[in-house]
Amino acid sequence: MSDTASIGTLQRAYWNSEATRRWVTEQARIDRLFAGVTEAALAAAAPRPGESVLDIGCGTGTTLLRLAEAIGSGGRVLGIDISEQQLALARQRIAAAGATQAQVVLDDAAAHDFPPASFDLAFTRFGVMFFADPVAAFGNLRRAMKPGGRLTLAVFRPGPENPWATASTAAIRHLVTPPAPLGPEEPGQFSWGDPARVRRILDGAGFREVVLTPLDLPITLGADAAEAAEFAMFIGQGARLLHGVPDTTREAARAAFEAFFKPHEGPGGVSLPAGLWLVSALSSAAPCPE
Ligand SMILES: C[S@@+](CC[C@H](N)C(=O)[O-])C[C@H]1O[C@@H](n2cnc3c(N)ncnc32)[C@H](O)[C@@H]1O
Repeated sequence: MSDTASIGTLQRAYWNSEATRRWVTEQARIDRLFAGVTEAALAAAAPRPGESVLDIGCGTGTTLLRLAEAIGSGGRVLGIDISEQQLALARQRIAAAGATQAQVVLDDAAAHDFPPASFDLAFTRFGVMFFADPVAAFGNLRRAMKPGGRLTLAVFRPGPENPWATASTAAIRHLVTPPAPLGPEEPGQFSWGDPARVRRILDGAGFREVVLTPLDLPITLGADAAEAAEFAMFIGQGARLLHGVPDTTREAARAAFEAFFKPHEGPGGVSLPAGLWLVSALSSAAPCPE
């Protein structure tokens, strides 16, 4: 199996596993956590009535539904994701909203056979950081976009600029064996942090006018340290580190997280800084380098 194929297989297994099940069961809480990101990214994307939109790695459908609302019944929005468990909830939410202009498809956005030149806007909240070969993936996405179509991506800057996700992991280092650090080209939560890499990917895939705008905002992990600790255990770095560990280790990690978050408790809960890029670009009409 090629590296690209085996990374793809691993990603599909991961996003359909128990390790990411909380993206489904905690959808409402995750959406509250990232509400500021959602608003900023949708404002940057500026979806218009009647447009045709793609939501890449749409997950449980939060941004898909917002895009559907913005484009109205005269537009259409397609969400694509490799996670059946997340798409099952997205389908329920689309049906409950009566959003007939929204659809989802279970497939790899890097390889899906989209109708060519069909989207005015391609959008994601955190759904593009996991491609094995991002230049090839974005070449495929660009071919699906109309020439001059808009791309808007919300991605994280590097880990040290995201204490909400990374600072607390030091508190459990003594309890778990940390995995080997990811290489700069490997998929992962912070793999789009380096602006030079983002430009190299998008330029290489045939996009133009690539602009990275920093977005800095606090992320509220919970009403108090106990809630923040619970959250840190099931999402992002904490979830990866604690995947498959015995219950005794989990409980020790919970206590360590809680002690870490205690000094961060404030009137609005436990908030720590997050740093993102809002990336915008335009699809060019030129043939994409294969
Ligand atoms: C961090 S989650 C974000 C989900 C959603 N956009 C949100 O903000 O709630 C990343 C999503 O990307 C999806 N994903 C990862 N690799 C993908 C691929 N190659 N094609 C389509 N979706 C992918 C995952 O299944 C997951 O739903």
